[in-house]
Amino acid sequence: MKKVRIGVLTGGGDCAGLNPAIKWVVKSALDERLQSERGVQYEVVGIRDGWKGLVEVDPESPAPGESIIQGFDVFRSMLLTQEVVRTWDRYGGTFLGTSRTNPYNPKNDQSKTVLANIEKLSLEAVIAIGGEDTLGVACKLARDGVNTIGIPKTIDKDLPGTDYTLGFETALNVITEEVDRLRTTAGSHKRIFVVETMGRHAGWLALEGGESSGAYIILIPEHDFSMDKVNDLVLEAKGRGSRYDIIVVAEGAKPAGGGEFVVRDGVDGFGHKALGGIAEYVAGEIQNAAKLDTRSIVLSHLQRGGAPCAYDRRMGRYFGIAAIDLVVKGDFGKMVSVRNGEITAVPLEEAAGKPRLVDVHTEYDTDRYNGRRTILNHITEK
Ligand code: F6P
Repeated sequence: MKKVRIGVLTGGGDCAGLNPAIKWVVKSALDERLQSERGVQYEVVGIRDGWKGLVEVDPESPAPGESIIQGFDVFRSMLLTQEVVRTWDRYGGTFLGTSRTNPYNPKNDQSKTVLANIEKLSLEAVIAIGGEDTLGVACKLARDGVNTIGIPKTIDKDLPGTDYTLGFETALNVITEEVDRLRTTAGSHKRIFVVETMGRHAGWLALEGGESSGAYIILIPEHDFSMDKVNDLVLEAKGRGSRYDIIVVAEGAKPAGGGEFVVRDGVDGFGHKALGGIAEYVAGEIQNAAKLDTRSIVLSHLQRGGAPCAYDRRMGRYFGIAAIDLVVKGDFGKMVSVRNGEITAVPLEEAAGKPRLVDVHTEYDTDRYNGRRTILNHITEK
């Protein structure tokens, strides 16, 4: 029977849902019943640490020490069997490891090494599980002749071409749980809490996390906010007798006329700044201007941690199976995706486009700084 070797990797920020996707790539590729129908014997190789695993290791001169990683051979890759991945869908993060390595970084282009290593490892297809950056690389590799397939993940849910990205729902659960915890302490002390979520360009996490947790104010990158208006809103709530309030703010949100808040200088291999600090700013301004006791908290990487929720396990499963369907059909250069509740596939070019943002006109209330209050009855926009 014809043998075909597939590589699978995870790149960019980790999140819940990656391990379920890897498990189902392996299980569907190796499925015994389907194998006889397909007439092809697939083999799946897990590549460690995203694109870094295809940049740093020359299969002909393996790095000493790499072989000690349990189960991984000297090529920073390992053969994934059904037994190896059997329990992976229960766990968060990625057992393959991840990195933000960009082989097409204009300052250090290592794409030729990646192409050579894919050839040396005899990979006839590469399945990349990632967000805008990782899938952007997959897209470029496809143009360079590699058979690539993408699986969408990012807790930010801002990838174009799909309505869902792995990790988002688990992150929403974290936000909701943490806000629940904050309510008791906020209420006891009559304090306002400003909670910072991730979300670089898009406010999905803040908006839907704020909606799920019942936040009073939600601030998103798509709509620059007025600090005066935030203060008016909290004073208004105070006037109504509110003991405490929860404000959820996305890390990429900005006050009108101001810029993004960053935690340190510099950018990563894909040109991204490290955002953070907006919650502390908002809390400080409320404390100073509205004279209300206010605290801030940054949920940060907690949102990416923990076991995948049921939805991320299921979506990881569907995306993993769909990715192998594309490999079997030889339909490369695509990203599996979900559109209007149906699993489908779109060209990787589409996934590498502009981020999918919250539509401020239909999904956000710019008066209340919150989610919409009409869903079926559309009121004429001002
Ligand atoms: O890419 C998703 C993301 O969750 C962004 O919202 C955030 O800015 C970034 O990851 C931070 O990731 P790290 O600290 O791992 O670089």
